[in-house]
Amino acid sequence: MKKKILYGLLVILIIIQFFRIDKTNPAIKIENDFIEINNPPEEIASILKTSCYDCHSNESTYPWYSNIAPVSWWVKDHINEAREELNFSEWGTFTAKRKDHKLEEMVEEVEEGEMPLNEYTWTHSEAKLTAEQKTLLMDWVKEVRETAKNKKDKKILHLNNGEKWGANIETTAGIERMLSIINEEIEDGRISLYAAMGQRLSIEMETIFAECTMEGDAHDQLHLYLIPLVEIVRDMEDVEKEDTAMILQKDILKHLNKYADFFESA
Ligand code: HEC
Repeated sequence: MKKKILYGLLVILIIIQFFRIDKTNPAIKIENDFIEINNPPEEIASILKTSCYDCHSNESTYPWYSNIAPVSWWVKDHINEAREELNFSEWGTFTAKRKDHKLEEMVEEVEEGEMPLNEYTWTHSEAKLTAEQKTLLMDWVKEVRETAKNKKDKKILHLNNGEKWGANIETTAGIERMLSIINEEIEDGRISLYAAMGQRLSIEMETIFAECTMEGDAHDQLHLYLIPLVEIVRDMEDVEKEDTAMILQKDILKHLNKYADFFESA
């Protein structure tokens, strides 16, 4: 009886060997690769390749035991699941939000010692991360996240690495004309003069836009600077109450003075 069962198992084991897993890696587009895009230091790249890429990329190398069913099925399952969750070969196709989330998960998984999977390090001892490697990897991943976040912050007015942005002379001259207009004193009760002031400022702003020859980041920053100004100047044109007008005048003056903190003409 025992013999029969063993014999039966052997037959099954032989038969399942015919159900082989597909080991062909999906095609790789190098421009979408995580390492290619983020260009980490050699040491980090090597950690990722050794400890993560077998499962989380389209560059899997299959161990010898992956030739034997049912272990092969189990290996293939891991790889499929890992690729589905996070495929480093397809990094370039992720949205900014997904990238950020995956980077966050990477830190978490490594910190908690969840990754690389234990089942993997049993047979790939070189993939086991030392405490030092973990710290290196996590610090670098956090840095990548931070850099991406700062790029997003480009949409906030800021200096050019601590220096002012170079503005064309016409822009600076336009701001100066606006400053002299806004500094004019208006007698009490002359509300219509505030609206007229708004119109004159508006004309100067149009000239600034028309004459601007700035390009690239400097141009984007000027735009960020001017947008709120356009809005308060428009409010000034439509102003009906004297106390509102006086507040607007102060706000515009404050915003115009800010120009020199961020821009200068050579
Ligand atoms: C043996 C294959 C294998 C290796 C090697 C491996 N992983 Fe995983 N990884 C998986 C599998 C399977 C999952 C999905 C199931 C789970 O979360 O346990 C996963 C999930 C993850 C997730 C979660 C993704 C999400 O959004 O939930 C992250 C992050 C991750 N791995 C990062 C890594 C990093 C970083 C390494 C290398 C240091 C690594 N993994 C090595 C198999 C692997």
